Amino acid sequence: MSAVLPRPGVAQSDKHPEMIVRTAEPFNAGPPPRLLGRQWLTPTDLFFVRNHGTVPELDAAAYRLTVRGGQGGPLSLSLADLRRLPRQTVAAVVQCAGNRRREMLALRDIPGEVPWDLEAISQGEWGGVSLGHVLELAGIRPGAAHVAFTGLDEVERRGRRFGFGASIPLDKALGPEVLLADEMNGAPLTPLHGAPLRLVVPGAIGARSVKWLGEITLQAEPSDNYFQAVAYQHFPPDVDATTVVEGAGRMLDELFVSAAICVPEAGAVLPAGPVTVSGYAVGQGGRLVERIEVSADGGQTWTEAALRGVHRQWAWQLWSATVQLAPGRQTLVARAIDSGGYTQPADVGETWNYKGYMNNAWHRVEVQVG
Ligand code: MTE
Repeated sequence: MSAVLPRPGVAQSDKHPEMIVRTAEPFNAGPPPRLLGRQWLTPTDLFFVRNHGTVPELDAAAYRLTVRGGQGGPLSLSLADLRRLPRQTVAAVVQCAGNRRREMLALRDIPGEVPWDLEAISQGEWGGVSLGHVLELAGIRPGAAHVAFTGLDEVERRGRRFGFGASIPLDKALGPEVLLADEMNGAPLTPLHGAPLRLVVPGAIGARSVKWLGEITLQAEPSDNYFQAVAYQHFPPDVDATTVVEGAGRMLDELFVSAAICVPEAGAVLPAGPVTVSGYAVGQGGRLVERIEVSADGGQTWTEAALRGVHRQWAWQLWSATVQLAPGRQTLVARAIDSGGYTQPADVGETWNYKGYMNNAWHRVEVQVG
C-alpha cells in the first residue's frame, strides 16, 4: 500500500487566484463563468475540483495499482509497468452530477451539498493507458459484469473512514475511451486531480472518474461503496430527505444533455441592442451536441448559436450567438439538442431532486438592459 500523508492546504496554491472556492476543506472549487469555456481545453489551474476528503500525497515510486477479480489472481502494477503499455490520449469533459445545483436549491433548500453554480465542469486532455487493456491483462472471467474502483483518499461518512469508490458496467469499461490517466493537458497529473493515477470515464458523471486510484475489481454486481450505492442516486421530485428510502434511487450513470451560458454573467448591466452570448454544452452520455439555441426574451423566440471550436464525441461543445436585447430586465436562455435527439426540460421544477443532481433544465441568466 502506498503512503498516504494528508496535505491540507496544498490545494489552493495550485489554482488560479480567481477560483470560486465553495469549501476549503475538503477543497471544492471552480472557475468564474467568464473564465470557463474560453478555451476548448480548460487550463489546469482553472480546472474545477471536487473532493470528498483531504487530498492524499502519494509516493509515486512506492505506488502500486492492484487489480482483483481477474482470472489469473490479483495483479500489482507499478507506474513503470503501466507506462510500458500502449499510450493514448482522449479529450473529455468532466462534469459533476451536482453542477448547477444552485438553481435547484433556489427552489427548495438542499442542505449539506456543495452549492455549485455552472462551474462544476471542465475539459481536459487526458493521457494514459486503456482500462480495457489492463483488464485483459488481469483476465476477464465469465460472470464479471461490473468494474469497481477505490481511491486512496480517506473519506469519513457515518463514523467510518474509507476510500471514495465507484463502478461502471464492464461493457463501458472496455470502451477505448476509458483511461487510466497519469497525464492531464500534456503534463503529469497534479495531486488535486488524482496523481499519480486516476480513472477517466468520458460520458459518465464525474463521480465515476475515481482519483488517486488504488484498486480495481472485476465483479458481478455494481460497487457497494457509499458513493455508488447510496450517494449519487437520482430520485423523483416528490422524494425528500424525510421520505427517502436510501439506495432505492436510480444509480446515476450518463451525463445529461445540457447547455449553459458563461457570458454574460448573471446580474450584468448591458446596453440595449446586440449582445454576444457564449457558453458550453454537453451531449447525453458524451454524444455530439447538434444544435444550441439562445433566447433573449425568456424563451419566446430563439436564435441558433454557432458551434465554436472542435466538435467531437466525449468533449464539450463551445458556442456563441448574437441576440438583440430590449431595454428592461431580461432573461437570456440556452438549450441544446444532441445527436441522439435528447433535449432538456424547460423548467428546473421538473428535474428537482433532494440531492440536487443532474440539473439540465434550460439555463436562464437574468441581465439588466438599458
Ligand atoms: N475520486 C476520489 N478518490 N475522491 C473524490 O472525492 N470525486 C469525484 C471524482 N473522483 C472524487 C474522486 C467527483 S464527484 C468528481 S465530479 C470528479 O472526481 C472531479 O474531478 P476533478 O476534481 O479532477 O475535477
